[in-house]
Amino acid sequence: MSDLYGRIIGTGSYLPERIVTNAELEKTVDTTDEWIVARSGIKQRAIAAEGEFTSDLAYQAAAEAIKSSGINKSDIDLIIVATTTPDLVFPSTATIVQTKLGLGGCAAFDVQAVCAGFVYGLDIVDKYIRSNSCKNALIIGAETFSRIIDWTDRTTCVLFGDGAGAMIVRADNVPGIFSSSIYADGAFKELLWVPSGVSTALSELEMGRAFTKMKGNEVFRWAVNTMSNIAAKTLRDNDMDASQLDWVVPHQANIRIIRAIAKKLSLPMEKMVVTVAEHGNTSAASIPLAFDYAQRDGRLKSGDIILLEGFGGGFTWGSVLLKY
Ligand code: UT7
Repeated sequence: MSDLYGRIIGTGSYLPERIVTNAELEKTVDTTDEWIVARSGIKQRAIAAEGEFTSDLAYQAAAEAIKSSGINKSDIDLIIVATTTPDLVFPSTATIVQTKLGLGGCAAFDVQAVCAGFVYGLDIVDKYIRSNSCKNALIIGAETFSRIIDWTDRTTCVLFGDGAGAMIVRADNVPGIFSSSIYADGAFKELLWVPSGVSTALSELEMGRAFTKMKGNEVFRWAVNTMSNIAAKTLRDNDMDASQLDWVVPHQANIRIIRAIAKKLSLPMEKMVVTVAEHGNTSAASIPLAFDYAQRDGRLKSGDIILLEGFGGGFTWGSVLLKY
């Protein structure tokens, strides 16, 4: 086993100022606060302002993570942005954030694994660190998902929101990240997707009509089963059982999914970090955003054993088990 581990030494997050409540959505689509809360647990979401881009959200979260880590930003030698909603087709949002931070020279790239993007990014960071290829990584999950939502489609528009979360992960001789694993199965493409893009239908992108489509109840079933299975496998692989976990930080898509995972793992809901009510589903941002909120309000403490798990379009999924 490597004697190098990735250890989280700083976190940050950022939400756009504008909060859209369920009551506000009641005025624009055929829905009710009651339905949204009962079916998803979501009460509100933040929406980026016109002219506010994914890199702006990412930059704010990154600056806070750097500050909380205490490192000098020039010590960062790898920047990864997990996003489904990059500012531009290219260059990557990671290079745009790099410039906003006043950095240059270190590796910077985006990871696209939709709602599992942050877990994918952490998996990559940990492997860079274990192979002694990086000492201080900045990893950000950031989305302006509102830009790929059809605001007249009640089956999707009530669910998603914008935001960003970031972490500084440092190489250390003590864990840190015990293990991480990522998976995908492209056979499920059409259950959750934006059915147009650069190579297939640039005109849809240009006209702002590239929107998320989801077969919600099928995705729900897969999300519950896949996230429960990966949690159980991760624990088995590390010779641990669920009772040894202090916290689970799951992807924040739906409170009912989080409850079902807790039940399958025989974990009390008190051990699940839940922020979906305030943020909605922020895709790649949801895990680091929830993590940052929970550590700032004192729930996550140094030494806690924490399981992160993500699930998203593709399907993509993965987990990270760590000591904080
Ligand atoms: O981030 C990646 C992972 N994403 C997810 O995990 C999301 C997974 N899916 C879900 O969270 C849930 O499936 C939803 C919240 C999307 C939907 O909840 P559901 O309990 O699966 O409801 P449903 O899709 O089966 O729809 C039930 C009814 C339908 O009406 P009928 O056909 O029974 O008459 C829908 O048309 O609710 C209707 N409906 C709505 N009603 C009021 C759908 N959206 C709305 C709405 N307001 N916004």
